[in-house]
Amino acid sequence: MAWKKSDWRAKPRVQMPDYVDADALAGVEARLAQYPPLVFAGEARRLTAQLGAASRGEAFLLQGGDCAEAFDQFSADAIRDTFKVMLQMAMVLTFGAKVPVVKVGRMAGQFAKPRSAPTETVGGVELPSYRGDIINELPFSESARMPDPAKMLQAYTQSAATLNLLRAFSKGGYADMNKVHSWTLGFTDGEKAARYREMASRISDALDFMRAAGIDSTSTETLQTVDFYTSHESLLLEYEEALTRLDTTSGNWLAGSGHMIWIGDRTRQPDGAHVEFASGVLNPIGLKCGPTMTADDLKALMTKLNPKNEAGRLTLIARFGAGKVAEHLPRLIECVRQEGANVVWVCDPMHGNTIKSASGYKTRPFDAVLREVREFFAVHKAEGTIPGGVHFEMTGQDVTECIGGTADVTDENLSDRYHTACDPRLNASQSLELAFLVAEELSALRQERSAEAA
Ligand code: PEP
Ligand code: CO
Repeated sequence: MAWKKSDWRAKPRVQMPDYVDADALAGVEARLAQYPPLVFAGEARRLTAQLGAASRGEAFLLQGGDCAEAFDQFSADAIRDTFKVMLQMAMVLTFGAKVPVVKVGRMAGQFAKPRSAPTETVGGVELPSYRGDIINELPFSESARMPDPAKMLQAYTQSAATLNLLRAFSKGGYADMNKVHSWTLGFTDGEKAARYREMASRISDALDFMRAAGIDSTSTETLQTVDFYTSHESLLLEYEEALTRLDTTSGNWLAGSGHMIWIGDRTRQPDGAHVEFASGVLNPIGLKCGPTMTADDLKALMTKLNPKNEAGRLTLIARFGAGKVAEHLPRLIECVRQEGANVVWVCDPMHGNTIKSASGYKTRPFDAVLREVREFFAVHKAEGTIPGGVHFEMTGQDVTECIGGTADVTDENLSDRYHTACDPRLNASQSLELAFLVAEELSALRQERSAEAA
């Protein structure tokens, strides 16, 4: 039986809101179904091919952005700064890994959030949890927490405007490698920024050399533009279904809401609604793998999500927590090996390392984030498998949400610039520092494996 974009409706669903006004919901879905898709099938296929290269170690995925985009933090500056930091990180990674870096933002659609509890109780009052700006509002009041389908229209509009700016930055000259020096942000000073400037100078020298040798880097498209893709958790399935379109060239279905979509660790039930939806669209799919993921689960999920074993179709995003990678990752690697499955192995060192700070803020110790990345590389080194990418919650803004790093955010100053509505993000300095660490790991692995091969 052919897959239908509404098939998920017959499956058990979790982490989705109960809209009370069915007519209002139907009205919004009908409008969204008429709106243009945000992305095109050819772009999603190109990303799949690039992720296929990452699965073979011929490219490396950098996926990053907000935990949740927010309506009141929507601004050109915020988009530009996150884009800038990702360009800087990609440059650092390319330098270390010596392979192309596939750049994917958690942007232009990352609005809906799974929560650990369906309700929140404050002072004896129990209300539905905040589930992201596409569903309800953060303030603790009954009206704010009521799911409102009209918010999907605002999320669509914000996503379209965000993607428009990202496309302009990517192709309009801003991302030109000849401008490698101009992506630095004022506040990322210190040792890592100095290292970045030094690396940028070496890149400029190389470009000058090429020019002198007759290769004009100012007229070479690959140096002047970048491919920048969007991604988000495919959680709010009414929204996803309404933006799903038939690709007439291939006869396949495209989730038109973003280039890549992923399934969260809480919604990955093999017979559940979220897996059902993702199984039928042609976009590359991410799958979050937390400590409770068993080899049997993974096997069932790989069969369902990538029956043709296409390289680049499925990205496994490991998020176990520092100190737990060696306990959990090997059994999943073994399962992938037994199945002969093509996957991209990606490390999300954020979601297994969230703690409540002494001052009451949700935070992540930067040390734990670094440790999980190192453990991820160590396991792949021991197993002889390929670390294909990283997935971070980060921003180009100078926030104080994660403790530690060279910018030295402490428990006491978390409150200075704590702006996230959801999980704590790495700031620009911390992101750059992490990129240098990943680049070192990649470069060490590359040297070791080429020595073995020789
Ligand atoms: C997230 O990426 O914001 C998230 C909720 O992740 P996970 O599903 O891995 O907990
Ligand atoms: Co998050």
